[in-house]
Amino acid sequence: MNIAILGTGKMGTVVGKRLVAADHTIVFGSRDPKSTRHKYADFPNISVRSYSEAAKDSELSIIAVPWAFTLALVDSIATELDGKIVVDLTNPLAADISHLVVGGTNSAAEQIARILVNSKIVKAFNGITADNFLTPNFSGDVAQIFYCGDDAESKKVVRRVIESCGYEAQDCGALTNARYLEGIAMLWLQLAFWEDRGSDFSFRIARRQ
Ligand SMILES: NC(=O)c1ccc[n+]([C@@H]2O[C@H](COP(=O)([O-])OP(=O)(O)OC[C@H]3O[C@@H](n4cnc5c(N)ncnc54)[C@H](OP(=O)(O)O)[C@@H]3O)[C@@H](O)[C@H]2O)c1
Repeated sequence: MNIAILGTGKMGTVVGKRLVAADHTIVFGSRDPKSTRHKYADFPNISVRSYSEAAKDSELSIIAVPWAFTLALVDSIATELDGKIVVDLTNPLAADISHLVVGGTNSAAEQIARILVNSKIVKAFNGITADNFLTPNFSGDVAQIFYCGDDAESKKVVRRVIESCGYEAQDCGALTNARYLEGIAMLWLQLAFWEDRGSDFSFRIARRQ
């Protein structure tokens, strides 16, 4: 699948490298493709272009920029994302990552959806960190990635994309549930960084058989 990763930072980079290993073709969107291209020099199936070019040429785009710049970015490339699947992996964090700046009856994903009215928004990948992403196995258990959205067909596509990264995909319902998926990511940060419990853990949904 042709996938755009919008942003060449820590999270976008590991997701892109994992997806290219799963035979997807990846184009990164970047403010300055010439200066960020070197990050992917060893990956023939990864290219780097402007944000609008990357989004235009892809079937699915993953937003991987800090929350503070997200809404302006999606607004600027709304036409290129028209009718397509847009995966939101952002967490709407304060600059010092001490708390969420969006919540309650709102979420980053819903704010994006209100701008990209003709796109199909799926929240995914926000609950696992860049440091953990390349090793989905936690003590013998395959880690889970939670996702939610309102368009059933798009969720099926995203589920396959998650699974192609080596994760178990957990459908978490409607896009409004992004409010709680963003809260779960904040809990992870709280425990790992603010309560010094280490970063080698992930959350999972366990069911009785
Ligand atoms: N890091 C994690 O472990 C993790 C885990 C889950 C979710 N997330 C979410 O993923 C998103 C990206 O996080 P990250 O850790 O990858 O961030 P990061 O390393 O700081 O990189 C973010 C990228 O955003 C792009 N960007 C676009 N406009 C920007 C601007 N005005 N100023 C600065 N950068 C800009 C930059 O790429 P270009 O220079 O190429 O434009 C930059 O490399 C965030 O929303 C975060 O909450 C992160």
